[in-house]
Amino acid sequence: MKPAEALKNAYILVTGGAGYIGSHTLVELSSAGYDFVVYDNLCNSSQEALKRVSKIINKDVKFEQGDIRDKKALQNVFEKYNIDSVVHFAGLKAVGESVIKPLEYYDNNVNGTLVLLSVMKEHNCKKIVFSSSATVYNEVTTKNYIPLKEDSPTGATTNPYGRTKQFIEEILQDFYISELDFKVVTLRYFNPVGAHESGTIGEDPNGVPNNLMPFIAQTAVGKREYLSVFGGDYDTYDGTGVRDYIHVVDLANAHVKALKYISSANFNIKNATLNIGTGQGNSVLSMIKAFEKVSNKKVLYKIVKRREGDIAKCFADASLAKEVLGWQATKNIETMCKDSWKWQSNNPKGYET
Ligand code: NAD
Ligand code: WQD
Repeated sequence: MKPAEALKNAYILVTGGAGYIGSHTLVELSSAGYDFVVYDNLCNSSQEALKRVSKIINKDVKFEQGDIRDKKALQNVFEKYNIDSVVHFAGLKAVGESVIKPLEYYDNNVNGTLVLLSVMKEHNCKKIVFSSSATVYNEVTTKNYIPLKEDSPTGATTNPYGRTKQFIEEILQDFYISELDFKVVTLRYFNPVGAHESGTIGEDPNGVPNNLMPFIAQTAVGKREYLSVFGGDYDTYDGTGVRDYIHVVDLANAHVKALKYISSANFNIKNATLNIGTGQGNSVLSMIKAFEKVSNKKVLYKIVKRREGDIAKCFADASLAKEVLGWQATKNIETMCKDSWKWQSNNPKGYET
């Protein structure tokens, strides 16, 4: 008997499932009753995250280590398991690094997705939920179309990472047109922050964090001396950059809703690209204040010059996701900061023991 027949349950393949957003999504998939298998090369994550997910869900996590660019290895996974749908997180995500290593980013993200799609096609797997980003809305769009709607202009992104997301969105649209019954849901995440309420899984960046929340958390825990606030002269309510921060567990739940939608009779390509944000814009200084309040720690900061490529404001009109998926964010800034702090203070070295 072929292994696929032996394992007759339908599985969700979660590429990049050991990462920050992936690991939280596993927990929500499990509580919604989905069986899944994680496929990850662990280039930016650790198997410890999966062990901890396993503890939260009280169940073993099926894990296959491999690279999405490795066609043979992916084919083996599709042979071994009956894959119903794919949730595709795997990719490199550091904006600055992508400027220095563009070929690695195009190869990993774009080429990796092409290999994945070709293996899905071979195995008649026709449903994918893709991790895109608000970064596809360019600088001009964020000036003229706030709050951002899904039909606001995209493209002309300022860095190779952003372009990989834009290209993949377009590749998925072309593939959708060419393949009978192929279905795609593209989720454009705004700024994911926070951690699971258990404090056992969370964001564990390598080296000095690029993103605001892990930097604030590491400053509060004493790992960094102070936070550099990039720019105090933006046209925003307090002069610092405004973003749409979204709790990672809310974001994880959007994937569960997207999987339900993609298999439903209501699926409609026109409504298959969705903003996943709260619709609220918060400044850097508001985030510092909220973090200080929940952690009872001082977060020292200095206002320095603007970071190149940054924009003043970016926040979503998230009404389409509510209408189409029945999804909306439920967790506020205090909860985001509280859960980040629980993760950071319980695990000052992240997953490293
Ligand atoms: P992450 O780095 O924590 O997770 C990505 C995972 O993919 C990691 O476990 C990594 O080991 C794995 N991976 C990378 N390349 C791979 C490859 N070639 N083959 C197999 N596995 C590979 O990142 P995250 O924050 O969880 O982001 C998940 C997805 O969401 C990414 O596609 C990212 O671009 C996108 N996204 C993230 C954010 C954010 O701010 N975190 C915002 C918007 C979109
Ligand atoms: C948020 C705000 C900074 C760090 C990036 C990617 C985007 C998406 C999410 C993947 C801004 C300010 C930050 C610091 C600061 N990722 N800041 N001091 O830039 O909105 O988005 O992550 O798709 O593609 O570009 O997020 O967390 O870096 O910054 O003052 O040390 O915090 O200027 O206003 P960003 P961020």
